[in-house]
Order: sequence, then structure tokens, then C-alpha cells
Amino acid sequence: MRSWPTKTLALGGDYNPEQWPRPVWDEDIELMQRANISFVSLGIFSWSWLEPAKGEYEFEWLDTILDKLHAGGIAVDLATATATPPPWLSAAHPEILPVDVDGHTLWPGSRQTWCPTSPVFREYAVALTRQLATRYHEHPALAMWHVSNEYACHNLPCYCDECARHFRTWLQRRYEGLDVLNDAWGTAFWSQRYTDWEQILPPRRSTTFNNPTHVLDYKRFSSDALLEHLRAERAVLDELSPGVPVTTNFMTLDHFRHLDYTQWTPLVDVVSTDHYIVDALPHPRAELAYSGDLTRGLAGGAPWMLMEHSTSAVNWQPTNHAKDFGQTIRDALAHVARGADTIGWFQWRQSRAGSEKFHSAVVPHAGADSARFREVEELGRIAGRLGELVGSRVESRVAILHDYQAIWAAEGPCMPSSELDALTAAQAIHRALHDRGVTADVVHPSADLTAYAVVVVPQLYLVTDEHAAAVAAAAAAGAQVVVTYFSGISDENDHVRLGGYPGAFRDLLGVRVEEFFPLGPDGTVALADGTGTWWSEDVTALPGTDVLTTYAAGPLVGRPAVTRRAGEGDAGSAWYLSTLPDDATLGALLDDILAAGGVEPAVADLPRGVETTRRSDGPRSWLFLLNHTDAEQVVAANGYDLVADAPVDGPVRLAPGGVAVLRED
Ligand code: GLA
Ligand code: ZN
Repeated sequence: MRSWPTKTLALGGDYNPEQWPRPVWDEDIELMQRANISFVSLGIFSWSWLEPAKGEYEFEWLDTILDKLHAGGIAVDLATATATPPPWLSAAHPEILPVDVDGHTLWPGSRQTWCPTSPVFREYAVALTRQLATRYHEHPALAMWHVSNEYACHNLPCYCDECARHFRTWLQRRYEGLDVLNDAWGTAFWSQRYTDWEQILPPRRSTTFNNPTHVLDYKRFSSDALLEHLRAERAVLDELSPGVPVTTNFMTLDHFRHLDYTQWTPLVDVVSTDHYIVDALPHPRAELAYSGDLTRGLAGGAPWMLMEHSTSAVNWQPTNHAKDFGQTIRDALAHVARGADTIGWFQWRQSRAGSEKFHSAVVPHAGADSARFREVEELGRIAGRLGELVGSRVESRVAILHDYQAIWAAEGPCMPSSELDALTAAQAIHRALHDRGVTADVVHPSADLTAYAVVVVPQLYLVTDEHAAAVAAAAAAGAQVVVTYFSGISDENDHVRLGGYPGAFRDLLGVRVEEFFPLGPDGTVALADGTGTWWSEDVTALPGTDVLTTYAAGPLVGRPAVTRRAGEGDAGSAWYLSTLPDDATLGALLDDILAAGGVEPAVADLPRGVETTRRSDGPRSWLFLLNHTDAEQVVAANGYDLVADAPVDGPVRLAPGGVAVLRED
């Protein structure tokens, strides 16, 4: 089996058989078959069980389980097993351990205890990859390679001396000379001029704020350093196991922002990601939807793989809430609604020992005679029917720009508000669209924007000239362009664009801003029409720009708050939001913008709390309806419901927490 994605909606998960005695393995395979599990990710944390001493390998157990899985018809996403070095390696080579911002070594005893640039770690990891690829490249169970695991989850940034050396080399490639670096980093400020490359260190903890461009370049460097690691392992797989797809699981969650995945996608054959619901977020379901739309954006619109999520509680939140009954199915299908064709869980069987023993799994401590396992079995039956939509694409005519480098810059030291999250505007607008049944692609500014009807530029603080031009080109091609406060402020070196904010978009928007008036998390400002939150600005509308709403109180009373500059000819309008309006005002504004762009929701009159998307494939289409409320909801739609396995005639009645996937006529 050498093809991925498969022809069915594949269900699977992380499988750690080394934690269990062998008789359990046979039961595992039988239960996997019962639940329609068609793949497992194997060996992710198995290094010390595969190589118990330097150059001594124990493959018998892996041979055995691979054979059993193959005999059971389960495909394997085989790990290179390099996510966590074994104790013997860090004992022999303590220099592979990562170092934190204060210079403290992070000791072995948990996982991912390796420095991203360590040549010693790299050598051992590549050697293990070589062994595995040599031994298993023809194994019939092998369907995909899973390199490492969640790069950067715990070991970035590392501030060690080895990283300092690699950082200097990286800088020498980026800047032609020290003069160029001094200029880019603005070292005329605070006596920071460098006169020798050796003087440059990682941005370790200093007396006060580090240089923002130094910090930004360290984030760029750190992401690249791990990418080099993927490249090194991938090169071995390409050489020894050609034709088998390679992935590494991304983390496209709200709280993980260490890697610029835009740079990473060319190195994976299938975009895969992990997603966990964080209860402390103000809008956890909307975050799940944002994550799915971002993952699809990274995949260029193609179907993607959800490598991990949870059947129920996790183990790493202050209180680890169990999911509602029914939510295991609903959450899985929420990812399918946003383009996932493969659904994986962490993990198959709940551990008895270790720090994840209270993390839910497909087979819980109670065993297969449990509501949770039965729910997965039910999903297995549904997945069988959903096979027909595998390969189809999610329909979207709206783009929301997301740029990890802009986020990094916005999270730098000493901003007008350190309390304003870099994704506040993006997520608020995404959520408002999602509530109206309008799906957005969350894409990088380098994506082709010209085919979208609406392009949202939310808090894109740092923007290159090229990306600013791409936004203007989208407007010229007819898109409604929506720019929010604190966008287009700085260039790629994080130098402010002068002459009035937002320097990169001033002409497009026809506005000029002289000063920011951030409001903070609890501040609000009255608008002529609604309330502004988080932010306000002293905006001047240039001739030809319409003022849609003004500030109605405070120092900016009477000044423009929301504006629109009509495009000439076929060009779309450019809308500017200098504040984040309250939900109702934002919603009404988006209705106008969507109407101007001719964008319709997936279904009309969507009840509150129901999520919808549409996937299509040429003439065929499937409508997803997910009821996140505790009450029955009724939606006017028709088709054959693949979840209920029954035709729908007249309105769809969604049970509380229920899901329908309609094959439309
Ligand atoms: C991550 C890891 C898994 C597991 C889960 C727990 O996603 O990749 O190994 O630790 O978290 O939620
Ligand atoms: Zn390091």
C-alpha cells in the first residue's frame, strides 16, 4: 500500500504497542477492525526501544507488530522514531540538550530534549532513520513516513552556544555584511552596533527589552533550523524509500506559533496537523474551525490529514474536561467539514503509566466495553459512508491572511499594546463569517489572492512590499479588501513605514493615521453605530474615501472609525476598520462587505450555534451541518444524509449535538 490519501475516509491514531504485553497487540488489531480503523502512526517515541545502546538495534518487536498490522489490513504511518533521544545518548552527549533563555539546560526526563542545531543529535537521528528506511522500505504495511513529531513543541527556541554559531551562519547568508545587518536591526539604537560577527548572540535574557529585529530574526532562524532537520531526515527517506509519502505533524493551533509552516509545506507530501480543543479559549469551537481553515490554506486547498486529536479529555489543561457524549463524532466531522480526509487520534489505547495516563484514547482504561469506544465504532460506520467525498474540496470565496512572520513581529517587545493578541482581528472576523455560514480560507499573503471575492487583512502588522502589492492587486482584480487596524505598519526588517499609518496600505485605503489609541482588553469606545473594542486610531479619510462610522466619544470623537474607498472600474472596494467593532456591528458590516462581493452563505438562515461548510468535487457537493447547541435545530436543506444513512425531505432536523452530511441533489 503506497498511496496516500486513501480512497476511504481513513480513521486511525498513534499506536504505542511497546507499552503493552503482546497478547494485547492481537486484541488491538481485532478492535481496530471493529472500529474501522485503517491506519496507525507507529513508533513515534520508540527510539530507546529500537536502539537500546549505540548502534545496537532491536527490531524484532517492530517486525512483529508491522506484520500483524499488515495481516489485519491496517496501514502504517511509520515514525522515524527520532522525536525523543534515549537516555544513553544524552548521557554520552549532554551537549545535545536544549538551553533556555536564561542559560539553563533543559534536562532529560520528559521528551523532545534535543537542541535543534546539535550536529551530534542530527547524526544519531539520521543514522536511526537510515536503519528504519533500509529495513522497512518494502514492508507492505508501510504507507507513509512520519518524521519526528510536532517539531518545536517543547525545544524551541534554544539559546545554546551551538545555536549561537548556527545563528551567525544563518545571518551571514541573510545579510551581505555586518553593515547591512546593523542597518536591518537598527543598531544605532541603544549602542547595539556590531563590529564582529562573533559578538552576535541569541537574544538571551537581558536587562530589559531585546532588539525587536534581533528577536524576529531569531524566530526565523529557529524555524529554519528545525526545517533543516526535517530536510536531513527526508533526504534519507527519499534515497532509501522513494515513492513512500513523507509527512511531519504540524500544530496549527492557536497557541502554537513557533514555526513558519508556509516554508515547511514544500517538504511534506501530505499536510498533516494535530488539533486539541483548549477550554480556556473564549471561543474554542471557532478556534477549531480557524485551525482547519489554516491547515487547508497550508495545503493549498487540497485535502489534509488530521494526525491527532482527542476522543475526550487531554492531560495538560488545568482541568481536563471530558467531551460530551456525541462530541467525539462531532469534533471529528468538524475537521472533515474543513477538508480533512484522514482523522487520527492521540492515542489508540490509553496508557497505564507515564504522564499521559489520564489522556483519553480510543480504547480507554475501561476497555472497549465503553461509551467512548462505541462512539468511535459508530464513527467508523459513518466514515465508511463518507468515502465518496474523499478528495473533494471545501468551497470558499473569502481569504483571511495569516503570516507567521507578521505574528512574530507583532509579538515582539514593546508594542503599543502587549495585551492585544496578534490573531484577535483574524479570529473575530473568521468567527463572524463562520456564524453566518461563510467559509474562509486562511492563507499566506503569497497565495494567489486574485480569485477571491473578499480578502481580509487582519492586523497584518509587518508586510513586505511584495505582499502589500499582492493585496492591492487582489482589489484591482475585483476583490473587496478589508484591512483592520495595526496592519501594514512595518517592513520585513520591522522598520516602521513613515508618513502616516498604515504605510503599506495608505493609498489603497485612502486613509492616513497619525496616532494609535489602544483600548486594552477591557476598554471600549462608543461608535456612532455600535461599540469599538481593543483599539482605536486617529484616522483622516483622504478625498474620495467614504466614512461609514465615526467615533462617538473620547479623544477621537467625530473622527472616522470605519471607511470605504470605492474601487475604480472593476476594482473592488477597500474597507478600513480602525477598531474592532462589537459582534453585532461587525456582523452587519460583514453582511455589507459580503453582499458587495456577491458571497452567499452555504445555507440561508443558519440557526445560531450551527456550523456549516460545503465540499464539492465537480458536479457533486456535500453540505455539512454541525449542531453545537443543546437544542434541536432546523435547517432548510435537502439531500441524502450520509450520517443518518437516510434521505432528507424537507428541512433537516439536527438533534442536539447532532451532525448531518448531505449529499446534495
Ligand atoms: C501532542 C503529541 C502527542 C501527545 C498529545 C497529547 O499532540 O504529539 O504525543 O502528547 O499531544 O495531547
Ligand atoms: Zn541549541
